[in-house]
Amino acid sequence: MSSSCLAPKHGRALMSVRDGDAVEIAPGVHWIGAFDPGLRNFDMILRTANGTTYNAYAVRGTDGVAIIDTVKAELADDFFARLEQVATLDEIRVIVLNHLEPDHTGALPELLRRAPQARLIISKRAPAMLKALLKPTDNQLDYELVDTGDEISLGDRRLRFLNTPYLHWPDTQCTYLAEQQVLFSGDVFGCHYCDPRLFNDCVGDFRFSFDYYYAHIMRPFKSHVRDALKLIEPLPLRLIAPAHGPVLRERPRRYVTRYRELSSSNEAFDQPFDASDQPASLIIFYLSAYGSTTRMAEAVQAGAESVPGLRVSLYDLEGGEIAPFVDLIEEADALAFGSPTVNGDAVKPIWDLLSSLAGISLRGKIGAAFGSYGWSGEAVPMIEDRLRGLKMRVPVPGLRLKLTPTTAELDSCRVFGRQIAEAMTNTPSKPETAERVIDFAELSP
Ligand code: FEO
Repeated sequence: MSSSCLAPKHGRALMSVRDGDAVEIAPGVHWIGAFDPGLRNFDMILRTANGTTYNAYAVRGTDGVAIIDTVKAELADDFFARLEQVATLDEIRVIVLNHLEPDHTGALPELLRRAPQARLIISKRAPAMLKALLKPTDNQLDYELVDTGDEISLGDRRLRFLNTPYLHWPDTQCTYLAEQQVLFSGDVFGCHYCDPRLFNDCVGDFRFSFDYYYAHIMRPFKSHVRDALKLIEPLPLRLIAPAHGPVLRERPRRYVTRYRELSSSNEAFDQPFDASDQPASLIIFYLSAYGSTTRMAEAVQAGAESVPGLRVSLYDLEGGEIAPFVDLIEEADALAFGSPTVNGDAVKPIWDLLSSLAGISLRGKIGAAFGSYGWSGEAVPMIEDRLRGLKMRVPVPGLRLKLTPTTAELDSCRVFGRQIAEAMTNTPSKPETAERVIDFAELSP
């Protein structure tokens, strides 16, 4: 799949990277990573509201192919399926490890077994970790050490290395593809945010995930961040390809600037990440007991995204922290909340979030509620009441579905999402009798 099929501007026809596609992110450079949408906790310290990605890349030159990082072991099949779409194993000349943590090296032993001719490239601080990771029985392990300024030629293109220790482990480095001005940055500029649209201009609003990741992974090493920025800031950058989260092709420099801000002043955490080009934003928060409200939420998202000119974000409250969400909500134009009904009520994380909003102004924002239920479905009207109490507008009646949504009911969810989006853009479509909002309020348990 070429990146051009993911149109680069807001208002685009959105397509997702599904079905194991490799994605060309720059000429001769493919994303061959893996999605992990179900992850809700990373390294025991980070919550992940919609999972994460493990980004790996293949760079083709006239003298062979370089693989940059791999994925965690459980997703190795996805990695190899994508890799084999863009290169044969005997074409692999080098394997560059920007970072040896197992989320990026889980597929390495199998890759070394399948491509034994490949040279392994690591930073000068990495050998002890590599040996501990692979535990070679004969103590024989071939690798090549690189430092800042070292280069490896792939024929018509070169990989240049930047030693960036402690971002996030002592071994970490970045790799720069000079000809395409692509920076493979490892954990640096990454975030735990899983969206199959992959590119930063296509995915939901991940700015809070970016800051949150920095705060938990990079902040303890901020002097090292500043050292790394001295190497990165002078580079021409067309694209940053981090090891987690969206590929940063639209205004990549602003993520470098954000790292400079965050590493220079703690006050930067209280200042919003550059929102100068943000389109109108709809955020969908949800929780799900048995997956039905999840399916509704995804359909609501799809319906909203059918209306051009919006950025639609989807967050599972099970994997999120309230405080960063409050910042996100303050900047959003519309909010939709999906909750199952449990014991005649919406579930507690929804109320925790709604009760945290008193300190910000929501007046005039659009609100909406939806959810699956088993007996009586009180959650949706209760949430709507709360939204009105917060002075929000609720122009689209809530959507409740009994237990598992059918195909027709998921169509109704898409209509519901589209109607929210149309209310945001003041572009109501003609009613479609085949796709109408179903309110099951009249149904008794
Ligand atoms: Fe994504 Fe520090 O590993």
